[in-house]
Amino acid sequence: MAKNERFSDPRYGPAERQMAESLVEIERQMLEEEAGEECDCKDGMFPGLTRRNLLAGGAALGGSLLTAGQGRADAPPGAVEYRVQPEPTKEQGRTILDDGGYGSRSQFESEVRWRYPTASLDSSWSMTPLASGHGIITPSGLHFERHHAGIPAIDPRTHSLTLHGMVDQPMRFTMDDLQRLPAVSRMHFIECSGNTLTEWTEPTLKTVQGTHGLTSTSEWTGVPLSTVLRMAGLQDGAAWILAEGADAAVMTRSVPIDKAMDDAILAYAQNGEALRPEQGYPLRLLLPGFEGNTHIKWLRRLEVSDKPFMTREETSKYTDLMPDGTARQFTMEMDAKSVITFPSGAMRLPRPGYYEITGIAWSGRGKVETVEVSTDGGETWEQAALEEPVLSKCHTRFRLPWVWDGEEAVLQSRVTDETGYVQPTLEELVNVRGTNSVYHLNAIQNWHIAPNGEVTNVHA
Ligand code: CO
Repeated sequence: MAKNERFSDPRYGPAERQMAESLVEIERQMLEEEAGEECDCKDGMFPGLTRRNLLAGGAALGGSLLTAGQGRADAPPGAVEYRVQPEPTKEQGRTILDDGGYGSRSQFESEVRWRYPTASLDSSWSMTPLASGHGIITPSGLHFERHHAGIPAIDPRTHSLTLHGMVDQPMRFTMDDLQRLPAVSRMHFIECSGNTLTEWTEPTLKTVQGTHGLTSTSEWTGVPLSTVLRMAGLQDGAAWILAEGADAAVMTRSVPIDKAMDDAILAYAQNGEALRPEQGYPLRLLLPGFEGNTHIKWLRRLEVSDKPFMTREETSKYTDLMPDGTARQFTMEMDAKSVITFPSGAMRLPRPGYYEITGIAWSGRGKVETVEVSTDGGETWEQAALEEPVLSKCHTRFRLPWVWDGEEAVLQSRVTDETGYVQPTLEELVNVRGTNSVYHLNAIQNWHIAPNGEVTNVHA
C-alpha cells in the first residue's frame, strides 16, 4: 500500500496521519540500521531488542534519527560504563561508593522506552519495551509516558491538592498532610486507550513495543481518594469529580463519584519510591482499570459536581466514533486484552525446537481468569499457565511450553476475565465498532513465524 494511502481512513486527521506515518518510518529506519550492523547480536532471537544502538531510539526526536555508532562508547541510559574484568575472580571488584548510593543497571542492558514520533516534543508519548520485560512489574524508568505539555518539575514542599465544589468543607492538602493519612499499596496496570491504535485496518508496527507498549504495571502507594472525600463530606447529588493536573496543559478529566469512592488512589509512590517526575511527581490520581488519560498526573485540584465537566479530553479526544455516526463517550474501563511478548515481532527463532511462549494479559474489570494460546492461527487453543500473583486490574504473566517444528505458524493469545468477557478477534471487534475510532483496540494479536524463524505482525 502506498505510503500516503496507509492512513487514509477518516479517523486519521492530518496530525494523526503525520504521527502514524512518522512512526512507521522511524521503526523502519531503526530496524534497517540494525540489519546493516556487523555484530553477533543480529543473529540472536532478539534483533532490535538487546542492541545498544537502540538506545538512540530514545534520542530520535523531532526527525533526527540514529547516527551509526551513536552512544556506543557510553553506557546506556540508567547504566554506568565500568571496565569489564577479564577474570573477575582474580581481582577485587568495584567499591560500594562507585554508584553514589543509587544503583544502576548493567552496562550490558540497553532497553529503553521508545518515543512515539509526535509532531512536537511538547506533546509526546513513549512506549514500554514489553518484549524484554520479565514478570509483571514494569521498571519505573521504563513505564510508558504520555505528556500533553512536557514534564513539569514540581517542588513537593510547595505543591498542594485543593478539594472543593459540592463538599461540606473545602480542603487543601500539602504533601505532608497526605502522607500522614492511612495509605494503601496496590499493583495495577495503566494502559493508554490509544494503545495499539495503528493496527485497526492492517498490521502496521513491527514490534510488540510498538503495537502494545502503552501499558505498564507498577505498585502504587497513596491515600484512598474515598478517605479525603469523606473528610470533606460529599453533598447530596455529588456525581462527578473534576481532576486537574498542574502541568502546562492543565490536564483535566471527569471521574464518576462511584469510581472515586471505590478504588481510586491519590498516589505519591511507585515501586517503593516516590513517583518518577514523568509519572506525576509528587502526586497523581490512580483509577485502577480506567484508561490512562484519566490518571491525572501532577494532581493539584479536585472539584466535586453533579455532572461531568465535558473537558477537551472527553469530547474532542478520548471518544469513540461508531459506524452509525454517534460517538461513545466516557469509555473509561479498559477491556480485557493480552499479547504474546515472546516470540514477537522482529525477533527470529534460530532453529526448530523448544521455546516458552510467554506474554501478559490484563482487564480493567478485574482479574484474568484464563489465557489460551493458539499456534495455528486460532484453529486450536491450549490453556496457558498463569504466573502468581493474579491480581485485579493488573498485568498477569502467562506461559506455555512449545516445540516449534520449523513449519509456518501463527501465534495468538486470548484472555477471558473474571466477568466472562472474552478478548475478541479484530474481525469481531470491527463488526461492532467499525473503523472510525482510534481508541480501545483490544483484539487478539497475531505473530507469524516463517520457516526461517522470522516473526512478523500479521492480521489473521
Ligand atoms: Co475511552
